Amino acid sequence: MRFLEGRKFLKALNWKNIREEADQRRGVDAPPLQKRVPAGAKLIKLPDFGELVSRSIPLVKAIENRQSIRSYAEHGVTLEELSFLLWATQGVRKVLPNKVAAFRTVPSGGARHAFETYVYARMIEGLDSAIYRYVPLDHALYEYHNEEKLDSKIVDACLDQKFVASGAAVFFWSVIPYRAEWRYASVAHKMLAIDAGHVCQNLYLACETIDCGTCAIGAYDQEAVDQLLKLDGIEEFVIYLAPVGKKKQSDD
Ligand SMILES: Cc1cc2nc3c(=O)[nH]c(=O)nc-3n(C[C@H](O)[C@H](O)[C@H](O)COP(=O)(O)O)c2cc1C
Repeated sequence: MRFLEGRKFLKALNWKNIREEADQRRGVDAPPLQKRVPAGAKLIKLPDFGELVSRSIPLVKAIENRQSIRSYAEHGVTLEELSFLLWATQGVRKVLPNKVAAFRTVPSGGARHAFETYVYARMIEGLDSAIYRYVPLDHALYEYHNEEKLDSKIVDACLDQKFVASGAAVFFWSVIPYRAEWRYASVAHKMLAIDAGHVCQNLYLACETIDCGTCAIGAYDQEAVDQLLKLDGIEEFVIYLAPVGKKKQSDD
């Protein structure tokens, strides 16, 4: 039968093996909560967004209105808005005193939070156009990488989905599988796929509240996107991405 191997990955198998397989059970130290920030990287502290959310629409409206938006206004978003969207998708609520786990604005199996966020800032007020990495423990960004023709490289890597590089920003979520494998061994991968959905759903809902739109992107060239973000494709690779832009007004 076709696709049996793929289906297996979605099943709750192998729980019994965790005791023998998982590094956590063997006393191996927990991996770091976030990827190291390179020495000398200049952190850009993200602004408070309290005033912005005080004007936001109710959650029930956001759920009702949510849809995938593939066409964006010509103008960008503010740093305050970006700050809110990063917090909503991967913001840290609390770090355990032993630093083995953190709790964030999204759920994650075993609180492993195995994702990193990279943002291509196309039209963010106050940020040069470049790819930035989010540093959740500091709620900050640093410029991660820049090169020519990012728009067309991103579109190519997203299988010619042109709208992906037409908004204010693109969120790329990478996964560092070992963060979850440390606890869940071969069960980790099902958890990671589920976890990614929560992150993007929060982006959809948060976007709705500030008159932005997004669209989950699962159709992309894995190697090309990993290369663009300088990821090794083994210990860290992109799992999901989503462009964000202001919704078009009727006169846009
Ligand atoms: C995992 C996943 C991957 C997706 N990948 C793409 C994509 O690559 N391109 C695209 O245009 N839409 C993509 N979408 C958006 C879906 O097409 C969209 O959610 C679906 O048509 C339902 O429409 P709605 O979100 O407006 O309710 C994806 C959605 C999900 C959840």
